[in-house]
Amino acid sequence: MMMKSNQQKSGLTLGYDLERWTRYGEQEKILVNLAPDSNSHILLSGMSGSGKSYLENAILAKLFLAEPSGEIYFADYKGDSAFSYLRGCPRYYTYRDTLQALELVYGRMLARQSGEDSSTHAITLVWDEYMAQILALQSEDKKAAAVVMNRVSEILLLGRSLSVRLVTAIQRPDAAAFPAGSRMNYGVVVILGSSAKSIYEMLLPDFKEEVAGRTFRRGEGVVVFQGAELRYLKVPIIGNPKRMQEICIEALSASCPPSEA
Ligand SMILES: Nc1ncnc2c1ncn2[C@@H]1O[C@H](COP(=O)(O)OP(=O)(O)OP(=O)(O)O)[C@@H](O)[C@H]1O
Ligand SMILES: [Mg+2]
Repeated sequence: MMMKSNQQKSGLTLGYDLERWTRYGEQEKILVNLAPDSNSHILLSGMSGSGKSYLENAILAKLFLAEPSGEIYFADYKGDSAFSYLRGCPRYYTYRDTLQALELVYGRMLARQSGEDSSTHAITLVWDEYMAQILALQSEDKKAAAVVMNRVSEILLLGRSLSVRLVTAIQRPDAAAFPAGSRMNYGVVVILGSSAKSIYEMLLPDFKEEVAGRTFRRGEGVVVFQGAELRYLKVPIIGNPKRMQEICIEALSASCPPSEA
């Protein structure tokens, strides 16, 4: 069970409590618990321009700082300009190559599961525009799309006990590419900006009444931890974007701990 965020001292800072920020200008951190016994798969949703890519950059940098011996892969389906500075990094993949990143991470998980690899450091795949990629793949090759979705589901189900984590960003969940129940496997669900009630219904069914009807600006929204704890979130402006980019480049380039036999 996730500790109450106000008791939690360390982890990944997503941003600040929106209400305290707006009312009192206070910076009360909202943290994702990264401990292996906590489900830290993250689903980020929001309409275009709501700030998903901005937050993903921050997450990438903060994950690396929180888990310097971890291993991070970045899949950027769209080839977004927000990530163009990452091109050339060994663990940055774009367009179709994102599927290579999935294969790699999935293979690492299976090797850990079979006991062939006894390493335990965190392996994270951050995947921007996951839903758009699945929908495009479904229209071209349904079987290939099903294989990808199954691998993602397996990582969501088994990854926690094997220290393999997914951070996926999507504009809106599409029932065709988001099997019922998948969202239950994300320990952290973030919806940025104002969204339609149908999106809250799909992603945060227990909180739909509370959240629907509220308006959020870009970089603001809601986060639910383990399907149970709701917080309103403010993603602050990145103070030193150049430094952040240096950290992200390092995150996708630094040599990783070896697999262990
Ligand atoms: N928290 C924030 N504070 C300040 N500016 C932000 C914040 N979040 C996003 N922005 C700015 O808003 C614009 C849109 O953000 P971003 O590209 O992250 O949106 P997105 O949700 O990824 O959109 P898309 O789905 O089209 O990729 C960018 O110019 C970004 O720099
Ligand atoms: Mg984006």
